[in-house]
Amino acid sequence: MSYPVAEVRAHFPALAEGAAHFDGPGGSQVPDVVGAAVATTLTAAIANRGTVTAAERRADRVVTDARAAMADLLGADPGGIVFGRSMTALAYDLSRTLAKTWRPGDEIIVTKLDHDANIRPWVQAAAPAGVTVRWAEFDPATGELSADAVTGLLTERTRLVAVTAASNLLGSRPDTATIAERARAVGALVFVDGVHLTPHSLVDVTALGADFYACSPYKFLGPHLGVLAAAPALLATLRPDKLLPASDAVPDRFELGTLPYELLAGTTAAVDFLADLVPGDGDRRERLTTSMKALSEHEDRMRARLDAGLAKIDGVTLYGADDRRRTPTVLFTVAGVSNADVYAGLAESNVNAPAGTFYAAECAAHLGLDDTGAVRAGIGPYTDESDVDRLVAGVVRIAAYD
Ligand SMILES: Cc1ncc(COP(=O)(O)O)c(C=O)c1O
Repeated sequence: MSYPVAEVRAHFPALAEGAAHFDGPGGSQVPDVVGAAVATTLTAAIANRGTVTAAERRADRVVTDARAAMADLLGADPGGIVFGRSMTALAYDLSRTLAKTWRPGDEIIVTKLDHDANIRPWVQAAAPAGVTVRWAEFDPATGELSADAVTGLLTERTRLVAVTAASNLLGSRPDTATIAERARAVGALVFVDGVHLTPHSLVDVTALGADFYACSPYKFLGPHLGVLAAAPALLATLRPDKLLPASDAVPDRFELGTLPYELLAGTTAAVDFLADLVPGDGDRRERLTTSMKALSEHEDRMRARLDAGLAKIDGVTLYGADDRRRTPTVLFTVAGVSNADVYAGLAESNVNAPAGTFYAAECAAHLGLDDTGAVRAGIGPYTDESDVDRLVAGVVRIAAYD
């Protein structure tokens, strides 16, 4: 299926500024329809959720629609979609809730491939509960985290495995389905960080083996908030701290305070936009299946062009094996030029590809990078060939400084 990149780009007012945006893994640009949905909801007659006034019913509808949209995007149950301030906040909240069920001598597994948001909340909840943390290591030469590296740490005492669906630094995609199958055999729950995967691939939380799956709409063309998906029956077994008068229903009891209705409306608009990236038939999940496949193919083509261009430049090191399962995320350094200078040099060519460790501190250290990390270029739905060529030309110029 051909991917109409020029038509897609026309929906992004931010692109008028002229920059080539490879900074999507930090947060994508936002299409006009998402901005309009946020503004419309923010200025519409709206109240706390209820059934008596039109304003109350509007708020209620916004929430129901956003749960349905996220369920379609993730292949999840709308009754188990929880909204929160950010993925980090949701992980911290859930870590405190799950830790109430842990006993001294229990164990959890975290991985060095993960963003710190899927490490530190669990590590910090484990300590006071007397729970042992086991660390799964990826292969720094290939950038791959094997299922065995994680499941070799499972014991009868393992209560939780926290693993990423895709590394935000390397793009590597571990086999979470196999990890989850083996974790389930010892009765452990699996928390999958889907923040970096969700923008790039059709997600099916069941196929990924996730008991909990977290993502952030601002990474997939939406507003700044976080989403947690789980089976309603699993959520019903958990008792988060909550205010006494707040609803005890699932998923509402996991949502602290009043929801940001305008951001939920923007999230629904982002999912609808993704579903209609390419023409397709059927319900929204079916259209998402078609669109996300076309998007993945487009992004892989752009990533292959970028990899090929960078690989030809003397002094460029690309991290991770060529053939690994990955998102279109490219991590590189340039010999003799600091990461900060590559980042700034590219910015002079109006190419936004930041340098750093991007909160994946364990991952960067395990790769042997210092705390300046490396330069990360993420492909997005609006990336076209001229963006890629501009980035490659910028790196050619910068590498020649040396
Ligand atoms: C892989 C990954 N996990 C978690 C996070 C944290 O997400 P949030 O900003 O919603 O807390 C990020 C943000 O960059 C990320 O890339």
